[in-house]
Amino acid sequence: MLTGEEPISAPFELLLCKPRTPAAARRLWRIIHYVPDMTDAELEVRPYRDSDEPAVVALWERLFPDARAWNQPAAYIRRKLAVQRELFLVGALDGRAVATVLAGYDGVRGWVYHLAVAPEHRRHGYGRIMMAAAEERLRALGCPKINLQIMRTNAEVVRFYERLGYAVEDRVSMGRALG
Ligand SMILES: CC(C)(COP(=O)(O)OP(=O)(O)OC[C@H]1O[C@@H](n2cnc3c(N)ncnc32)[C@H](O)[C@@H]1OP(=O)(O)O)[C@@H](O)C(=O)NCCC(=O)NCCS
Repeated sequence: MLTGEEPISAPFELLLCKPRTPAAARRLWRIIHYVPDMTDAELEVRPYRDSDEPAVVALWERLFPDARAWNQPAAYIRRKLAVQRELFLVGALDGRAVATVLAGYDGVRGWVYHLAVAPEHRRHGYGRIMMAAAEERLRALGCPKINLQIMRTNAEVVRFYERLGYAVEDRVSMGRALG
């Protein structure tokens, strides 16, 4: 594994390597340009644990401050843990949750919710890694297609999903709260 401490001759040897992941490509780029690796630690993707709650609640309160009553973090977590809890994934750096994604498969479609990466850790490929992990688990369940919803006020995220191969579809999203 590359550490960023490789000797000066390393870049020329590394040019012969073909990085297999975006993270490996970024490490290679840094080494070639002699940029020390200060921020881009490996993200550990794993199922949510009870001990993640404070970090996840804090992350969601920062990113989704206008959450409706049924989307309040503690209740949201509790409901997801009751149904397909193995599809509640956390991305952790040094053990601390800095990213989340919740997935579900209802036998017809897969759905993805609360994909979130802490602002200070964005543009390091973590959002892509979290979505890949959710997709892999949904695919393993036989899910043929993923749907997701984006708030109209959050349109810039559309470009993120397009980079991952998602497309805006000609649908109208409707909903009703079950009181
Ligand atoms: C959307 C979000 C998860 C992206 O996380 P991220 O870790 O910064 O994304 P990545 O670094 O994995 O980016 C993957 C690709 O999308 C692109 N991308 C990421 N954010 C983008 C943006 N806002 N606009 C355009 N492109 C974007 C990256 O450039 C990268 O492209 P490339 O790898 O093909 O060159 C993050 O911005 C976020 O948490 N936003 C707030 C929460 C939110 O809105 N979630 C979605 C709810 S539907």
